[in-house]
Amino acid sequence: MEYLRIRGGRALQGSVTIPGAKNSLLPIMAASVLCEKPVTLYNLPDLSDLHTSLDILRGIGWGAEYIDGRVDLFPASRLRARVPKRAAGAMRSSVFYLAPLLHRAKRVELPATGGCRLGARPIDIHLEGLVKMGAIARTENDLLILEAPGGLHGTRFALRYPSVGATETLMMAAVLAKGRTCLSGAACEPEIEDLARFLNSCGARITGAGSPRICITGVERLEGARHTVIPDRIVAATIIAAVAAAGGSAVLREVCPEHLEGVCTVFRRMGMKIARLDLTTLSVRMDGRPRAQAKLETGPYPAFPTDAAPLAAAALLKADGRSLICDHVFENRFACAGGFAQLGARASRQGRCARIWGVPHYPGGQALAQDLRGGAALVCAALAADGESRIGGLCYLRRGYAGLEEMLSGLGADICLREE
Ligand code: EPZ
Repeated sequence: MEYLRIRGGRALQGSVTIPGAKNSLLPIMAASVLCEKPVTLYNLPDLSDLHTSLDILRGIGWGAEYIDGRVDLFPASRLRARVPKRAAGAMRSSVFYLAPLLHRAKRVELPATGGCRLGARPIDIHLEGLVKMGAIARTENDLLILEAPGGLHGTRFALRYPSVGATETLMMAAVLAKGRTCLSGAACEPEIEDLARFLNSCGARITGAGSPRICITGVERLEGARHTVIPDRIVAATIIAAVAAAGGSAVLREVCPEHLEGVCTVFRRMGMKIARLDLTTLSVRMDGRPRAQAKLETGPYPAFPTDAAPLAAAALLKADGRSLICDHVFENRFACAGGFAQLGARASRQGRCARIWGVPHYPGGQALAQDLRGGAALVCAALAADGESRIGGLCYLRRGYAGLEEMLSGLGADICLREE
């Protein structure tokens, strides 16, 4: 089994370039199925979720190549409406193929989706919106089947929760629907703006993306586009958390500082010095132990993001007191709390929260990632341990980080990939 061997107790120092955003490239790769012409995407990290998306695209008949940070996508000569089972089960983002296939094939068959076990993760909001736009939904032999023989039509739809994925699904459904669609209560994450920028560059007519009210006027067809995805704000948050945990400093290049305001507010409260060096560069520095946080809470963007909650928890393991972090987005965000304890830190999961008793030192140990961001949090925690740690479950890390070990060793961490 592969694992990361990490020898803690070393402050970090250096600079790192932040890669393109996983949570942008995934919906945009799915949205390319709406296009009649080829699509090229740039600034794409080599992630297993990207390759799963390539498998889905090839499985429905699309031409799809990944070459050195770039993806070239070519419309299918013969489109298949069933998402390949194995790929669908490898990630939750296979849901993004519902709307595009509904438009292009008038039908879609989606096997059970996979993804990090962060909670129930229903797709009722996606389906409620699609049905309101004219889709007919049913399940048959573990397949979700949607049909829209007459195509989809515009609608007014209020999301009961600002779901990122549902907002993206309904945007993709609306761009080729007959008439106008207005979404209220939409999610405001930067990745939604990035998807809208991509779709508009293909000829869509979307306004309001990034705000809770998004309006879309359906068009007849979408061309293709060349698009560079935005930087990954959660990878940036991971590096910030690593420095907060291990101490030292780092320069983060090719970031969008405005996408990180919720994250930086929390880490500044912990005592981190964070400065904007220019439009796309941040410098971060941590001296001494982080300040404990009586209660940290996550929320939809622009609040402190759920994906950064385990990362903040890792940084607080050596804080100067007790902290409580609660995630209001997913029920099972803190599966990593047990891993922190296996590294010798004092942490426990209490429902949607993690309770942490900061200590000046903990030895390190062996722990297994249970999900993507929890795995990254275990790596950050191991960097702050006094001794050696082994972190397994790398299949989770590979879904969202291309070479986290290289990034961290570039900052002076003693981290390497091992096999036993
Ligand atoms: C996206 O997941 C991200 N994934 C997640 O990142 C991120 O944590 C999440 O948004 C929240 O920001 C991608 O963009 C690929 P949601 P998504 O729909 O779309 C409930 C990572 O580590 N809900 O905003 O699945 C749901 O159960 C991943 O990069 C419904 O009830 O998140 C959850 O409690 C993890 N019904 C809450 O909303 C629905 O139809 C937020 O889910 C949809 C969602």
